[in-house]
Amino acid sequence: MSGSALRWFAFALAATLLAALGQPALADPIVIKFSHVVSPDAPKGKAALLFKQLAEKYTDGKVTVEVYPNSSLYKDKEELEALQLGSVQLLAPSISKFGPLGVKEFDVFDLPFLMSDDAHARQMMASPMMGELNKKLEDKGVEPLAYWDNGAHVYTANVPLISPDDFRGLKMRIQGSKVLDAASRELGAIPQIIAFGELYQALQTGVVDGEDNVPSNIWTQKFYDVQKYLTVSHHGRLTYSLITNKKFWDSLPADVRPGLDRAVQESTDFFDETAAKDNAAALEQIKATGKLQIHVLTDAEKQAWIEKLMPVHKEMQSRFGKDFIDRIYKSSGFVPPQT
Ligand code: LMR
Repeated sequence: MSGSALRWFAFALAATLLAALGQPALADPIVIKFSHVVSPDAPKGKAALLFKQLAEKYTDGKVTVEVYPNSSLYKDKEELEALQLGSVQLLAPSISKFGPLGVKEFDVFDLPFLMSDDAHARQMMASPMMGELNKKLEDKGVEPLAYWDNGAHVYTANVPLISPDDFRGLKMRIQGSKVLDAASRELGAIPQIIAFGELYQALQTGVVDGEDNVPSNIWTQKFYDVQKYLTVSHHGRLTYSLITNKKFWDSLPADVRPGLDRAVQESTDFFDETAAKDNAAALEQIKATGKLQIHVLTDAEKQAWIEKLMPVHKEMQSRFGKDFIDRIYKSSGFVPPQT
């Protein structure tokens, strides 16, 4: 008898025995596909693998998690559509990419320098106002399970970016939010939305001259091989939301939910512990390659960027409403500088 026939026979025998003993037949495990766009050794990549390990352990194998890194299953925009259709069950995209979901409010977190400060960012994500925003996602069939803070952005380009005027005429890659678009234009740059999985090539071929990101992405994607300068500007932030399909999550059997909730919590704690360390280490690793010139903005230089970019906050009052932006300031503790 062939191997597969033997396995089928054993399974059938076990099912018959269990039925005879009045036990429920062995159900196929619930499959969770977890798609993301970064490399497995970036903070999000590590947290996704930990989630897999914990979810399978805490549900005694009633759930199996398939992790698809590096856009191997879906690229940026496609993954959100796939989640809403139920073709994938878990994502952790940047909240700067939620526009296509029809929830423009998340773009507000891209207001220049709003989330530069770690404490402001943590205060904002822990504030009751997030409940209001989460509800907007739920209304789109998306359930936010956690927020993962991946730290402040730096810029890379093929020219030094020290004064705001250095951006003039440059083609700069953005993630997609309307606020990032407005900020680029305010600097005199030409914004281009490019999927993360296509960014290395776009930088290499000159489709774009530069981009902003966190050091751990620049390191793990080797952007330092196709860029010459890095400016530590901390003008924005990379925040992920661990999201699932609401119908899928609500339909999960009661005996697996606690295990999954625990896996979400522990991989979130792991992410928060790891991201800050990995980004600091990545900046040192990038420096050690000697391939990029690194410049840390002085206070005076940063002040010039703030003065140049604060008008974007005013401009965005027409998009979000002054009241909404004022409530974001209050919730995050951000005080707009008098310019
Ligand atoms: C980007 O597109 O630059 C990032 O959001 C990618 C990621 O998920 O870290």
